[in-house]
Formats: sequence, structure tokens, C-alpha cells
Amino acid sequence: MVNAEIIVKGYEVKDSIKRSQCSHVYSALKEGREYVIKTGVDSSRISKKLISNETDILKILGNKSSNIVEYVEDFEVEDERFIVFEKIIGKDADDFEFGDEKTRIIFGLYVIDQVCNPLRYMHKRIHPYKDNRSSIAHGDISPKNIIVTKDYEVKLIDFALADFCTIPKMFDDEFDCSNPGYTSPERFDSNITTRESDIFALGGCLFSLITGKDPFRYKNEDFEDVVKRIKKENPSPRKHNKSISRSLESLIKACIDKNPRKRPTINKLKRGILSLL
Ligand SMILES: Nc1ncnc2c1ncn2[C@@H]1O[C@H](COP(=O)(O)OP(=O)(O)OP(=O)(O)O)[C@@H](O)[C@H]1O
Ligand SMILES: [Mg+2]
Repeated sequence: MVNAEIIVKGYEVKDSIKRSQCSHVYSALKEGREYVIKTGVDSSRISKKLISNETDILKILGNKSSNIVEYVEDFEVEDERFIVFEKIIGKDADDFEFGDEKTRIIFGLYVIDQVCNPLRYMHKRIHPYKDNRSSIAHGDISPKNIIVTKDYEVKLIDFALADFCTIPKMFDDEFDCSNPGYTSPERFDSNITTRESDIFALGGCLFSLITGKDPFRYKNEDFEDVVKRIKKENPSPRKHNKSISRSLESLIKACIDKNPRKRPTINKLKRGILSLL
């Protein structure tokens, strides 16, 4: 693992932004421009696999959407893989504060509408290497993986768990690295990343952004308790914020339906959001 204050491939590695179980994210500087560098936490198989998976997916997506973090380059130094991104100057979507409940709702709808843009493209993408039609799911959508700038540009980040929907999942131990509060119930049983799981996560994010509360997770809870709640409970956003209309509540409830087939497609979700804005 790199230490702060060293230089890798011309990038001056500065502060550590976040260290998780599977990766370490740093801010870095090169020729006067700020970047973010992501690398594995150790030389473990899963950590490396996640970094190379994220690189592969971002290369396939090819910086086509302004709502996806810009990928700059990737490289390997002394058996460690690194990905370099543009540095987004902003805050995680759930770090914004609001004076009133109506503004909070508009902000939540706006942010999720923007995140739908790259997902519409990803969810209908044709697999570049195979004949069969296949789409890409993000696999780890959560408010911490959405950054909003001060000009309200919305960027989706963290493609470590993104995957082609028709290929059996390659990570056995993925849940150690994803955010269980937004994981669909079926993903705890099958090992596949799907579009329907992304919709579940988007519904959960919308719930969080408009209420300030996670739909299935309360503070400091064990992983097992969150999983039980995801499998059993049908939380109501209106319970937390009475300014939420019944139509918005229905849209969120459809997204977080336990049955993946009852969830809207990304296009239907986008239309639903636009009708409420
Ligand atoms: N390009 C970027 N610009 C600014 N901040 C970033 C950028 N990429 C990541 N961050 C910050 O670093 C945090 C961690 O990044 P990221 O979500 O990619 O890694 P992670 O959640 O630790 O990864 P993983 O789930 O793959 O272990 C983000 O929540 C965000 O606050
Ligand atoms: Mg993340």
C-alpha cells in the first residue's frame, strides 16, 4: 500500500480520503491539477480484482456521461493496481443540509434523476465482447457513491462492483465491500448484479435523500439485522416527512419492492421522477 506524501507515476499522493475494507482513496496532485487515486488495501485477491474490475468497466463506459466520474488512467506499480480519477469538488449526496422539507424533496428527486442518465445507458448497453445482449449494472449505488458539486453537478462514482448482468458474479465475498443498506433482498441469495438491484438501490437512495433516514438501516446496526429488515420490512418515506406526496411514496415503494419484477425500469423511474419535479 502507498503512504501519503510519496510520488507514484508523477502523481504526488497527498491526503487519504477514505480507507474501506477493500480500497484506499487518496487525493493527489500532478502538474498543478488535483486528482483522486484509488488502490487496493493490501495485495489480497479480492482487493486487486475490484480495482481491475472498476478499471475495465470505466474503460468500457468511456467517459460518455457527464454524470459519471471522469476516469483518467490506470497503472500498476510494484504489483499494486491504481486508478486515477478527476477530483470532484463536492460533497456526498447525503451530506447536504436543508432549511425546509420541500427543498430536501426537490434535491432528492433532482439527484436521482441525474443518476438515472448514465444508468439508462448502462442498463441497455450491448456487451462489447459477446454476441448476446447484456447490460451493465452499477451494483453499489448509495448516497456515499454519488457526489454533488456546489454547482449541483451530480456524479456517480465507485464502479468496483459493477458487472455485466448476464455473467455469473465473479466476487464471492462482495458483500463485505458493498453498502448493505441499499442492497436488494434477492442479492443476498443469488450472486448476480442486476438492473433490478440498481433500481432497488436508487429507490433506497431517494428515500434517504428526501427523509434524511436510511430505509433499512438504523445507526450502528449489525449486518444481519439490516439484511433481515431488507427482506421483511416495507418502510414508508411519508412516516418521516409529511411533505412527501402519495405519488412519490408509491414510486419509491415500487423501486424497493421485494419482487424484482415489480420494480420499474430505469426509463419508467426517470419518467416518474420528472412527473413529480
Ligand atoms: N473522484 C473523486 N473525487 C472526489 N472524491 C472522491 C472521488 N472518488 C471517491 N471520492 C471520495 O472517496 C470516497 C470513497 O471512494 P469510493 O466510493 O470509490 O471507494 P470505497 O467506497 O472505499 O470503495 P469500495 O466500495 O470499492 O471499497 C467516496 O465516498 C468519496 O467521498
Ligand atoms: Mg464507495
